[in-house]
Parts: sequence; structure tokens; C-alpha cells
Amino acid sequence: MSYQLRTADPKSDPALGPLLDAAFQRPGRESRLVHELSHHFPTFDPGLSLVATDGGADIGYALFLPRRFRFRGCEVPLVISSPFSTLPDVRERAVGTFLLETGLAALGDRGIRGAVVLGGQDFFQRRGYVGAFNLYTIDARRDRLEAVVAAHDVADESSSWRGLTAEDIPVIHAIYAKNYSGVDGSEVRTDAPIDWESSADQAFTVIHEREGKADAYLRFRVRETLAVMECGATDATAVLSLVAFLARLAAEHNRSTVEVHLPPPHPLFRKLFCAGCMAEGNNFHDEALLRIVDWTGVLTDTGPSWSRALELSGLDDLSLGIDGVDYLLAPDGPTAVEVDHGRSDRHIDLPTGWEVPLLTGRLDWRDLAFSDAGGSEVLDSFGREQLSLLFPTRTPMWTYSPVFEIADE
Ligand SMILES: CC(C)(COP(=O)(O)OP(=O)(O)OC[C@H]1O[C@@H](n2cnc3c(N)ncnc32)[C@H](O)[C@@H]1OP(=O)(O)O)[C@@H](O)C(=O)NCCC(=O)NCCS
Repeated sequence: MSYQLRTADPKSDPALGPLLDAAFQRPGRESRLVHELSHHFPTFDPGLSLVATDGGADIGYALFLPRRFRFRGCEVPLVISSPFSTLPDVRERAVGTFLLETGLAALGDRGIRGAVVLGGQDFFQRRGYVGAFNLYTIDARRDRLEAVVAAHDVADESSSWRGLTAEDIPVIHAIYAKNYSGVDGSEVRTDAPIDWESSADQAFTVIHEREGKADAYLRFRVRETLAVMECGATDATAVLSLVAFLARLAAEHNRSTVEVHLPPPHPLFRKLFCAGCMAEGNNFHDEALLRIVDWTGVLTDTGPSWSRALELSGLDDLSLGIDGVDYLLAPDGPTAVEVDHGRSDRHIDLPTGWEVPLLTGRLDWRDLAFSDAGGSEVLDSFGREQLSLLFPTRTPMWTYSPVFEIADE
């Protein structure tokens, strides 16, 4: 079956909202998200806002939203493939596949290396997307929060917290960059308000001021659970202000726990952990997926991290086999090359399906040792040492922009 395609700018295309509402069957959710993104998101690209049509009728929509992500301390341009949906009565007729293939094919010209998505797991996993990120939660119990506040004699600071203003954005941008810099999958934010203010119902972004300057921020939502989605602090004193605010929130909403979604290297996570709060990490039920379409590009973008690993290993170069292609990592940067397969002392074939989670740090050589994915072949004494240097333990978490909360459950 062959379909047609048109690009659609939601700013000037009134048919798009009804199409999204009919496709997702959640009126006002994805249609509002796409409206907000097209009107306010600086990297929205109407050329990657795709409608599939059949005989003149719109039957599916896919947005590929350009975004920069941090991996291995470097920035990599990707897209978020969402919202993505076809009308219920045309499903399983290859419309989704058509939209996906067309969208991914358009990425190369734009220098974009791949795509991430949350949801639609079966469909995307069968099309080269691989689980790439974890979910981290720390349960901030009210009694623990209050104990920290008492131990540090944190003053009643109720007057120091206020709403977000445009002037705060560069400041909290810098705080975010510092607090999330070691997280693989943290989005590189812009200074656009949409990247900071809460967009969903019962969700709030608040700012803490000390001596007239913003020194902490917090984004939280009040639903069945009281949840912190993101926050940051300039220093240890500002971390205590966050703890005090959480204690106050828990008391005001009469909750015994605040669910705090932060990666383990984050200063508030560490503070809560040291206060005896229970921390949990899981694989996000394999729902947060990444597909790389340009490995040479990714290896080039993350070049400094490979150079450091080569230096540590004392090797001049090393080649990685990824999806049947060999890539040479050398001081001048990575290239896709034919390698001489006699050089087993300088070549590692990454097992199929492991390339992406090794890149994001979700899996490492220890996982390979316990898998039946050909780990034992790769993990000879050379491979084990090199893999541990090339792919050190990291924290893979996708810190997606608050605007996507519009489409959250
Ligand atoms: C996920 C989604 C976009 C897939 O769209 P779709 O139009 O059904 O996609 P396709 O028809 O291309 O593929 C779906 C399945 O139908 C199969 N199929 C395609 N054409 C077929 C045909 N003629 N006969 C039988 N099966 C067919 C495909 O092989 C595929 O199965 P597979 O995944 O096992 O390979 C759609 O189910 C959807 O909109 N879901 C709700 C929204 C959502 O979850 N979005 C993702 C996150 S934003």
C-alpha cells in the first residue's frame, strides 16, 4: 500500500489538532502539546512535522523534534519522535512504518544522529529503537526531611520561595547544566520559557532566592503522589533550602512521602540518600528508547571521550564493530573503516542490541558477563579491560523538557 506525505505547520494548519485528538483519543493532550511546541519551541522544525495521507484524507501524524542531548560529557543532536500516532481504524496497515521511515530518512541532511521516544514500545523496538535510559526515584520521607531541617537549623524560609520569572531563566539554566552535567541523556535546554515553566495541570516551577539572587529551583506536581520532576541548587546551603521546601510541601499536602525523580549524582539525591531515604533505580520498563541512525556522527560528537579512553588504555587506536560496520577510534577522530580482522588485539565487536545501552551507560561489561549475548567471546582479557575503559559506569536518564508533561499520564 502506498501513502502520501505532507509536512504540516500546526501554526497554520487547523486540521492538525483534530487529527491528533482522533489519533490519540485524548482530546486536548497531544494536540495542545504540538500547538505549544510549534508556537514556542525554538528548535521546532515544520519540515519534520509529518502527516500521512491516503486519497487526500489525513490518517497519521509524526513529529520529529530536534534536540541536543548530553552523552559521555559531549553534545549529540537527536530528535524526539513524539507525538507519533495513526488513526485507530488504519492501524496495522503500515502507515506508522511509512511515517517513521520517512522521518528518520530526513535526519541525515540535518546532521541529526538518531531519535528517542517514550512509549509505543513494541512498535519502536521492532524498528531499531533500544531501551536506553533508566528511571531514578528517591522517596523523601517527611520525617527524614524534617530531621535534616532540624539538624541543620534551616530557618523558616517560606518567604524566600516565589514563582518563576523571565529573568530567572539564565540563572536556573546554569544551575541545571551544573546539576545534571554528568547525566547521559540530559537534554541541553534553551533559554525559552517553555523549557522551564510547568505546562501541566497542578504542576509548578518555583524559585528560591538568597540575598536577592536565585540559588535553587524546583519543579513539582501535586497529583495522587506529590512528585518532584526536576530541581537544582547552586551549593550545599541551597540544597538545604530544597529539603526545607520539600518538608513544607509534604506537611501542607499532608503526605508522608515526596517522590523525587533525580539521578544519583544530583546534589539533592545525595543529600536525601545520606539522610536515609530509600533510593530506587529501574530500567523504566524499557519504555525510554533510542535509535542511532548515524554512528559515525555519534562517535565524532563524543570524540573527546574516546580519546580519553584510548589514552588510559595506552593504545594508539581501537576499532569497534557496530551493526556490521567497523569504526576506527583514533586520535584524529573516529571513521568508519574496513579493518583487518587479524587485529583482534585492537578490535571489539559489540554484541547486537548492546551498542546503544553501552553508549548511554545503561549496561556495562558486567552485564555482558552475565548475559548469553556472546559476552564470553567479547570478554576475553583484552575485551574486558577495554570495555571497562571505553564504557565506564554512567547514569543514563532522559531529563525531558517540562512541556512534555502535557502528554504525561
Ligand atoms: C504505534 C503506532 C503509531 C503504530 O502505527 P501503525 O500505523 O499501526 O503502524 P504499522 O501498521 O506500520 O505497524 C504496526 C504493525 O502492523 C503490521 N502491519 C503493517 N501492515 C500490515 C498489513 N498489511 N497486514 C498485517 N499487518 C500489518 C506491522 O508489521 C506492525 O507489526 P510489527 O510491529 O510487529 O512489525 C500506533 O499503534 C499508534 O498510533 N498507537 C497509539 C499512539 C502511540 O502509542 N504512539 C507512540 C508513542 S508517541
